[in-house]
Amino acid sequence: MSNLQSFQITSHAPRAASHALPRHIAIIMDGNGRWAKARNLPRTAGHKKGADALRRVLDSCRNAGISYLTVYAFSSENWKRPQDEINDLMQLLQHYLQQELQTLHENNIRLRFIGDLSLLSSDIREQVAHAVEMTSRNASFNLTIALSYGSRQELVRAMQAIAADVKTGALQPQDINEQRLADALDTGDLPEPDLLIRTGGEKRLSNFLLWQSAYTELYFTDALWPDFDSAHFTEALGDYAKRERRYGTTGV
Ligand code: FPP
Repeated sequence: MSNLQSFQITSHAPRAASHALPRHIAIIMDGNGRWAKARNLPRTAGHKKGADALRRVLDSCRNAGISYLTVYAFSSENWKRPQDEINDLMQLLQHYLQQELQTLHENNIRLRFIGDLSLLSSDIREQVAHAVEMTSRNASFNLTIALSYGSRQELVRAMQAIAADVKTGALQPQDINEQRLADALDTGDLPEPDLLIRTGGEKRLSNFLLWQSAYTELYFTDALWPDFDSAHFTEALGDYAKRERRYGTTGV
């Protein structure tokens, strides 16, 4: 143990409550395109492998005893990608839902979607609504897919809903508080993420869960999302277990 580590332990003992296992993990699944490019494959091939990685990580979360997984599948900004890639991603999502829904349901997994779903085609919206309704009473695990999602846009929509309540007189401006705003977000019925993982080497949040991540532990890895496996997952959990979460306090 280094001098610094021993100093920290003695000077901060007792340490802040230990949170060895995150309850909620959020993931920015980045690097599909680079994974494909390195193999001279079309970007879609990277996204397909990305869907496989999602299946793996979902299993890892459930095996580890984590209760919530939220993944960034398609951002508000992704609408600016070439139409072909957008179509491929939407097709992949539809395919994933068709293939996985029954298994998710049998495994008692509740599926949610966050984001501006009004921008999706009507057939995807119907499929999404069906998946959400079918799994709505499941309680063993919570998978949330962020689709057409941007945190700033989500905050704007929440504020519009709050403003509408103020306009009708159902809500007084002085009664707007952090809880009221958090409840109006798409994530209103989810706990805040404890750990946010971003693969693919970039170190930014890219408009993902900005409000919700105020005290979230961030973990960045160079691994490209299609390569992210149970060993990377275990490494991320190990890193998280060493963190001291202080929520702005001194931790003593
Ligand atoms: C970012 O990689 C990834 C995406 C924009 C899409 C994420 C989608 C999946 C993992 C597909 C599976 C998801 C579901 C729900 C079926 P990128 O394309 O920006 O990669 P790059 O930074 O290497 O170009």
